[in-house]
Amino acid sequence: MSRIPVAILGATGTVGQRFIQLLEKHPWLEVVAVAASDRSVGRTYADACRWFLSSSIPEHVQGLVVRPLEPNLDCEYVFSALPSAVAGEIEDAFAGAGYTVFTNAAPHRMDRDVPLLIPEVNADHLAVSEAQQRHRGGKGLIVASANCTTTQLALALKPLHDAFSIRKLSVVTMQAISGAGYPGVAAADILGNVVPYISSEEEKVETEFLKLLGTLEGDRIAQASITVSAQCNRVPVYDGHTECVSVQFEDPPSVDQVVDALEGFRGPNQVADLPSSPEQPIVVFRDPERPQPLRDINLGRGMAVSVGRVRPCPVLDMKFVVLGHNTLRGAAGGSIHNAELLIARQKLVGK
Ligand SMILES: NC(=O)c1ccc[n+]([C@@H]2O[C@H](COP(=O)([O-])OP(=O)(O)OC[C@H]3O[C@@H](n4cnc5c(N)ncnc54)[C@H](OP(=O)(O)O)[C@@H]3O)[C@@H](O)[C@H]2O)c1
Repeated sequence: MSRIPVAILGATGTVGQRFIQLLEKHPWLEVVAVAASDRSVGRTYADACRWFLSSSIPEHVQGLVVRPLEPNLDCEYVFSALPSAVAGEIEDAFAGAGYTVFTNAAPHRMDRDVPLLIPEVNADHLAVSEAQQRHRGGKGLIVASANCTTTQLALALKPLHDAFSIRKLSVVTMQAISGAGYPGVAAADILGNVVPYISSEEEKVETEFLKLLGTLEGDRIAQASITVSAQCNRVPVYDGHTECVSVQFEDPPSVDQVVDALEGFRGPNQVADLPSSPEQPIVVFRDPERPQPLRDINLGRGMAVSVGRVRPCPVLDMKFVVLGHNTLRGAAGGSIHNAELLIARQKLVGK
């Protein structure tokens, strides 16, 4: 099949670069346009972008001229890696002009008719997009990815919620500096330091998690009935968020039952065949020193989350550590995965 042309909004940033990297050899999608702020418009991508990934800028992208963030790009699908402060309005303009927008930004995530998707977790939530398309007159759509911290948490906890019903959870995070974009946190603030605050992060975890694990009821998502407490910290790690989680269940499992549920989790059949799906979405470590961001974030090409130190919790029922790649599973890879799901579904219904 010929590849589907796509554009990246915010293509020069931390997440934008990951989109360019991941799409270089994507079997279904091909980058034909890049757009960014006025600072970059009119320059070639290679000139405008301070590229910091270890692979080179793909040859066909180097010479693309950065376009303004206006809905006149020659494609149907766009991926948004724009800062939340500007993303909402720009994404609405694109969806209003008939584009399908896969966004990483916060403004539309909690909109009632916007699916907040992780294919293995809630592929059925895509159904709310029908209501959105009706509101938009049949064309144009916004599909959102959750905040990176929340994505890896929801993926790891989905099989446990399905099997044992989570009542309460407490999560303490150690988040990488790449999560703050570029240039992000000043070196003087983070080297040899921990910053015990990330603006709006705890609120995002405490709300988006409930939508992700919610249930589809007609054309809306009924949020999961779970009490969530998040404490988010920035630490001097470049990529990869680590989360210490304690969970209380309706039906408390043993350690072995938790491990079996995590290792056996695959998500719906159709999702397993998508190009970005990892063979095993959740990898469990027995070695008590793992997972570690330096060693384990690239499991499943950065699309698997890892869990370790599963053990009883004397305050709630069970505690463990979750690690995920914030710019791959938690951002660009997650959005591409969402696009693959939508395309696979559209092919099934013959659109
Ligand atoms: N980093 C992560 O781990 C992560 C994870 C999940 C979600 N997200 C979300 O993804 C989005 C992008 O994050 P990021 O980390 O890639 O940020 P970033 O490194 O700061 O990149 C921002 C991008 O947006 C453009 N931009 C900046 N200010 C703009 C403005 N006023 N108007 C229009 N365009 C503007 C920049 O273009 P120029 O180069 O031309 O300035 C750049 O392409 C954010 O909404 C963030 O919350 C990030």
